[in-house]
Formats: sequence, structure tokens, C-alpha cells
Amino acid sequence: TSVLVVAVGATALWLWHDVEVSTAGGTVFRDEMAVPPLAASRVDRDGTRVFDLRMRQGTTEFRPGRPTPTWGFNGAHLGPTLRAARGEKVRVEVSNTLPEASSVHWHGMRLPAEMDGGPHQTVRAGGRWSPHWTVEQPAATLWYHPHLHGSTEKHVQRGLAGMFLLDDEESGRLPLPKRYGVDDLPVIVQDVRFDGDRFDHAHRRFQGVGFLGNRVMVNGTLDPYREVADERVRLRLLNASTARTYDFGFPDDRAFDQIATDGGLLERPVEQRRIRLSPGERAEIVVRMVPGERTVLRSFPLRDGYAGALERRFGGGHDSFDILQLRAARTLRPSPALPDRLTAPELPDAADSVKERHFDLALTGINDKPMDMDRIDEVVTRGTTETWTVRNDNGMPHNFHVHDVQFRVLDVDGRTPPPALRGRKDTVLIPSGSRMRLVLRFDGTADEDTPYMFHCHLLSHEDRGMMGQFVVVEPGGTARAPEAGDHGG
Ligand code: C2O
Ligand code: CU
Repeated sequence: TSVLVVAVGATALWLWHDVEVSTAGGTVFRDEMAVPPLAASRVDRDGTRVFDLRMRQGTTEFRPGRPTPTWGFNGAHLGPTLRAARGEKVRVEVSNTLPEASSVHWHGMRLPAEMDGGPHQTVRAGGRWSPHWTVEQPAATLWYHPHLHGSTEKHVQRGLAGMFLLDDEESGRLPLPKRYGVDDLPVIVQDVRFDGDRFDHAHRRFQGVGFLGNRVMVNGTLDPYREVADERVRLRLLNASTARTYDFGFPDDRAFDQIATDGGLLERPVEQRRIRLSPGERAEIVVRMVPGERTVLRSFPLRDGYAGALERRFGGGHDSFDILQLRAARTLRPSPALPDRLTAPELPDAADSVKERHFDLALTGINDKPMDMDRIDEVVTRGTTETWTVRNDNGMPHNFHVHDVQFRVLDVDGRTPPPALRGRKDTVLIPSGSRMRLVLRFDGTADEDTPYMFHCHLLSHEDRGMMGQFVVVEPGGTARAPEAGDHGG
């Protein structure tokens, strides 16, 4: 009998461990938050900064002694932080050692369509791809992830995601926390679920928004803490989850400063108590620490405008999670006060808009058309500004992401956007029942053969076809059928 008791006890403990739900408040912060390493780079003869990214399989111990199969760039899980400056030429030597095809998309980057890493820039198993471009946009927190049509959710969930930081002269001069990994921390937030030692991705099937995890990790660390020794700490928040929207804040409801949106610095720091980020969105915040304190970055249940009855049913917004515990040293290094003014954000002007387009979001496709790799949905002219109205009457939360540009949110349901939406954006949450007007300027490169994507960034929605294609052509140009770029060995 004693053997049986031990066996039953061990099973119970095992089950208990795996069904443990990470609700806010009771979290034990056991592990120090990992910080993705800065990617090594070299500068070749023509002055191009070159990075190597190898997509590979591996295993990761999220819990001691319990290895989980994962995918990563260079390492076993996630990827290094790439970093480049405005004006720099960059090239990334991508190699795919995974057992299947994938791609690498530079989310938020303005670059030629052929370099974008979308569904047409496939990198075969065993293949290589060397995209190159010149960084022509302001300092920002961007990221990279696979974008193969139909497999994006799976590839991101297995661990393929990383940050891509851009700097410029102005950001270098401003007195902001900027010591990477010290007072300037990447915070890649993803929800996960375990089935024994493996990731469990099955929960996506019966939920409208897609996969929802019951644990949250930051930079691949479950229930993390981070020791900080500076008075002000900058957190670069990235929602790299597949479906979940977070409403970040602190249990004591303290104010913090938001300094940047998806595509760069805001005009001035904006005092916030909550920051809502849907999948793909970023925000940079600066938190003021009290010596010796322990405080927790938490995600709160979403209220107003999001958590309608249907959204509660479909999930994705009503849970609360402890994200990251910050442990302040007893004595903190003083940080300079935040400047009153940060930058003049480069935003398109609605007065320049020469064309309007409308996008209706639904699970069955955008404007009722499921994604078709061979169909070009929109043709825009290089150098022009347009107004896009995006509407969600679908009874389910969606968001909207556009490649190649950083847009201005003109209005939200006819009203002036809140301060957090007044900066450069490439992804916005469009709750059910709402409508946003966006102003976009297409001043990158033209290529009539190769489309860029616009899509819902809830990854199962994207995979199921909530995506469309646009090409940017020279004035008077027309679109041609997309050419598949299959990058082999
Ligand atoms: Cu982050 Cu088209 O994606
Ligand atoms: Cu969606």
C-alpha cells in the first residue's frame, strides 16, 4: 500500500503543478528574468552591419529538470536582440536548420517588400536568405518573427521571436535610461501552457481569439524577478503572445511614464497607470523605483470597450497575471529626470491624404476575402498619403497591423485618440463594435511584383486568413502577380 500512496501522491503533485494557474497576487517569483543577449555583428567592407540568425530546434528548461522542446534563433528559445542605428546599412544572414520552411519578418521596419520576410519570402528547411536594407526611420523597439502563411502561430509559440532595437542621434542624446540589461530592459511577454514537459498549443482550437495560456513568461522566464539598482527603469514592453491582450500596470496603481509607442518616441512622456497592448504592439515605459521595494508589473482584467460579453466568452481579456517582479536595491543610483520633450514624432498628415480605403475585420477574412497569396488586394502609389478606416463588427476582438509603415491614428470611433495612440503605430487593437481611422504615408520603396501584408495580429486569425496584400507602385504603375521567392540552400 505504501508504494501506492507514494505513487498517488506523486501523481497528484504532478497534476497540481501543471494545472497551477498564474493568477495575480499569489505568485512566487523564483527565477531571475533572462535578458536576451545583444546579437554580435560585424561591419563588412562597404560599411554594412551584418548579423547571423540561425533558426534551430533545441530544448529549454523552463522549470528545473524538465526540458521542453523549443525553437529559437541562435539559441534554443527566442532570439538575440538586434540593434542598429538610423542611416546604417544592415544585412541579416538567415539560415533555417528547422525541419520545415519558415520566414523572418522585421515587424515595424520600413524596408523593400522583398526584404520584408512575409509569406512570399519563404526560407526552406536547410535554406538561407540574406535580406539587406538601410535603416531609414527613428529610434524604436521593433521585433522579428516568422510569417509563413498558415504556420505563424506555431512558429512563434515554439519560441521564434526577438527584439530589433533602432537608435538615432536624438535618442542617443536624450537623458533616458539606456544601459541595456541594466536600466533598459527588454520585456517580451508571452502566455504559455504546459502539457507535462511539452508546450500545449491545443487550447487554441475552441476559443475564438486563438490560443490562451495559463502561465506568462518574460523573455522565456516563468514568474520572473529582476533586481534593479537605478532610480528609473525603462521597460520595453512587447506583447509577443499569439492572442492575449494585456493591460499592464502596478498593484499600487502608481503612475509611470510612457515614452514610446510601436514606432518610436512620443512627443513628450505621458503619465499612465495602465498600458493596453494587443499581440504585436510595443510600448516603452519608465518606472520610478523606491529604494528597497518589491513591486510587480501586473496585467489587469480589461475593462471598458474591450471586455464586452462576447469578448468575455471568447476570452483573451479577463484574466489577471503577475508579469514581472522588480526588486529595487536599498540604495539606488540616481537617474536624470525625464525631459519634458522627447521628439517631434514623424507622423503623416491627414491633410495630405489623397485616397480612402475601408477594411472590415472578420474571422472569415478582411472585407470578406480570406487571404489569397495570388491576389493583390490593394495597390497604393509610392509617395502618397491615404486614410484607412478599419472597422470591427465581428463580436470578437481583433487588431490590425500594416507592414512597411508607421501610421497615425486619426480617430477612434470619431474621437481624438488617447495619448497612448498619438505616436507612431504599426499595430492597433480594434475592439468589437469600434472603428478607427488611420493615416498612412507610403514613402518607402515601390515594387509592383512583391506585396506587403496587412492583417489581424492574433496569430490564429492571421493563419486562418485574416490577412490581405498590398503593393506599392510608382505613380502610374500597376500591380503584377506576386512572385514567390523561395530561398533554398
Ligand atoms: Cu508581426 Cu505581419 O507581423
Ligand atoms: Cu483577429
